[in-house]
Amino acid sequence: MSLPSGVVVTLIALLSKDGYISEGVGVPFDLPEDKQHFRDYAAGKWLLLGRRTYVEMIGWFRNHVPLVLSRDSSFQPTIGRRVASVQEAIEIARENGQTELVVCGGGAAYAAAISAAEKLVITRVDRLLGRGVMFPSFEQDGSWRLKKRDVHGGALPFSIEVYRRKRADFTI
Ligand SMILES: NC(=O)c1ccc[n+]([C@@H]2O[C@H](COP(=O)([O-])OP(=O)(O)OC[C@H]3O[C@@H](n4cnc5c(N)ncnc54)[C@H](OP(=O)(O)O)[C@@H]3O)[C@@H](O)[C@H]2O)c1
Repeated sequence: MSLPSGVVVTLIALLSKDGYISEGVGVPFDLPEDKQHFRDYAAGKWLLLGRRTYVEMIGWFRNHVPLVLSRDSSFQPTIGRRVASVQEAIEIARENGQTELVVCGGGAAYAAAISAAEKLVITRVDRLLGRGVMFPSFEQDGSWRLKKRDVHGGALPFSIEVYRRKRADFTI
């Protein structure tokens, strides 16, 4: 069983050790292995992005359907479509037979979507940033269970962690 919408909302993000996703523009660490992980996870899926992140990623979309959060009703993405809320995005994904909606950032989109999320896929880089755009805090509220952690070494060590919301059943 999944949530009543039938759509599992997943947040996927790369975080510094102190919880930042960006220093202002772009992703703060260049990790080819993580880029491949992101590409693999997002392939063929319906995505939800804030307008700023969508603008940064334009040109990247291939077999994805991006739903773009914006309060500007005159905004028309060249690929995908605008949504005014996370709920609208979930509804559109459901109407189109999707079982998952992948939230790809940025900070405002993660903050808007985390209460609807059942799954978090977090790349955690072993470096402090000290400032920037934050990922919403999630570990302290006791709602999440760490299901998997893959540790990667090298010059810039990182781990890929999968969390599931407690007491929910999951289809994916
Ligand atoms: N490390 C990572 O994994 C990762 C992933 C993605 C992005 N990023 C980084 O994150 C940064 C961008 O984050 P951000 O927080 O500044 O911007 P964002 O979330 O990408 O986009 C913000 C915009 O989305 C729309 N929006 C946000 N919340 C909304 C809501 N509840 N309802 C309706 N519209 C909403 C608004 O657009 P309008 O102004 O049009 O109303 C807002 O200006 C970039 O530097 C990007 O590179 C990092």
